[in-house]
Amino acid sequence: MTHEQSQPLWHGRFSSGPAEELLAFTQSLSFDQRLWKDDIVGSLAHVKGLGHSGILPMAEVAQIESALHQVAQEFEQGTFVFVAGEEDIHTSIERRVTQIAGPVGGKVHTGRSRNDQCVTALRLWTKRELILLATRLVDLCEVLSARAEIAGWGADGVYLPGYTHVQRAQPVLLAHHLMAHAWAFTRDIDRLLNTVKRTDVSPLGAGALAGSSLPLDPDFTAREMGFAERFSNSLDAVSDRDFVAEALFDLALIGTHLSRMGEEWVLWTSEEFGFATLDDRYATGSSMLPQKKNADIAELARGKAGRLIGNLTGLLTTLKGLPLAYNRDLQEDKEPLFDSYDQVCLAVSALTGMINTATFNADRMRAAADVQSLAATDLAEYLVRKGVPFRQAHAVVGALVQEALSGSQSLQQLIATSPHFDADAQQLIGSGVGVQLRSSPGAAGPQAAQDQRTRFALVIASLRTSLAI
Ligand code: ARG
Repeated sequence: MTHEQSQPLWHGRFSSGPAEELLAFTQSLSFDQRLWKDDIVGSLAHVKGLGHSGILPMAEVAQIESALHQVAQEFEQGTFVFVAGEEDIHTSIERRVTQIAGPVGGKVHTGRSRNDQCVTALRLWTKRELILLATRLVDLCEVLSARAEIAGWGADGVYLPGYTHVQRAQPVLLAHHLMAHAWAFTRDIDRLLNTVKRTDVSPLGAGALAGSSLPLDPDFTAREMGFAERFSNSLDAVSDRDFVAEALFDLALIGTHLSRMGEEWVLWTSEEFGFATLDDRYATGSSMLPQKKNADIAELARGKAGRLIGNLTGLLTTLKGLPLAYNRDLQEDKEPLFDSYDQVCLAVSALTGMINTATFNADRMRAAADVQSLAATDLAEYLVRKGVPFRQAHAVVGALVQEALSGSQSLQQLIATSPHFDADAQQLIGSGVGVQLRSSPGAAGPQAAQDQRTRFALVIASLRTSLAI
């Protein structure tokens, strides 16, 4: 900031400048300056449009364009200087354009309002950044899939207990478990792409709220900026923040998925589970307890979810009472969006690195999955094959499990002497047997694996095509 004091763009009808507290409270420059590039893209398109429609002579268009390019260069080189009292990035850039180009700079805002200008910039930003995040999520999916390959999809693949209610339920391939999370992320990527589709509408030309008496060509400016289409209703164009709410939902749901995965890693890396060990670069220590190695990335992935959900709730609450069209409340769209976006990007990168470098403790996983009680469902299904109604089979096996828990004989020993079972039932209990039996389509065992891998490869390839990566 320099000591120069900027006059508000709207100073004309005011007899005095704004109070310091007003500026402090109403400014958005501190957080919307990250939109500088998008504001310049919008202004370049707008000015070209003014030339294209014959509103400004081409010579003036060229002057303003060159000033805008210079401003872009100043931002890139870090030499752009803000002036005290500037409300937002749009004010700053217009002020600098006018400094560079002279009075002709005052024409850049012809037929435009900050109401259509600010949301144009935010749409450009959102489109670009959501695609970037989607590509990071593809990387995370690839890491999960690579770890799944290493863990193995075959008969000798690593397996662990699958859980319901955090109680051991049935054995599953580690690959299958890891990919369960990857599938959620593929849906997130698809959701981001859909949000981008609805964000891809130019609001430029809507003016303050009602369009213009000048012969603007919003189709032309939309094309210039690479939008798929232009707005249809000027009131809607300046007041619609659905794309921000959608983006915040997408981010909150990604955050929720990261949180759920994070929670598992907190458990898995505990001494109680001991299923995985983090690389030292992706773990933290304690300032007091020398022995500690903590999964802080996983914990924070879990912790940040609250804030992401809060950001979504906050924006929806802001929006719900707003009459048409622009209200200053709408300026509250940016901070939650930037915050959620930044946090999710950081979390995705950190978790990707953490998972990529962790070690799985296959022996611990196997030992936990090889307990005999995990064969209970397979024993019940053995009886089902013999024609016993499932409910009855469930009760028979349940009683044997209870007996094994309270008596001196193992489940395997009890099965050997039970009148319900023949000798071949013994094959159902044994190290690594259960996971092999999970063979129905989409199931957790090796037999269904190839189908899942093929499906996943197709989904990732199609997402990559949509993302052009
Ligand atoms: N900085 C504002 C925003 O981000 C745009 C300013 C519109 N101001 C106005 N008085 N119409 O929403």
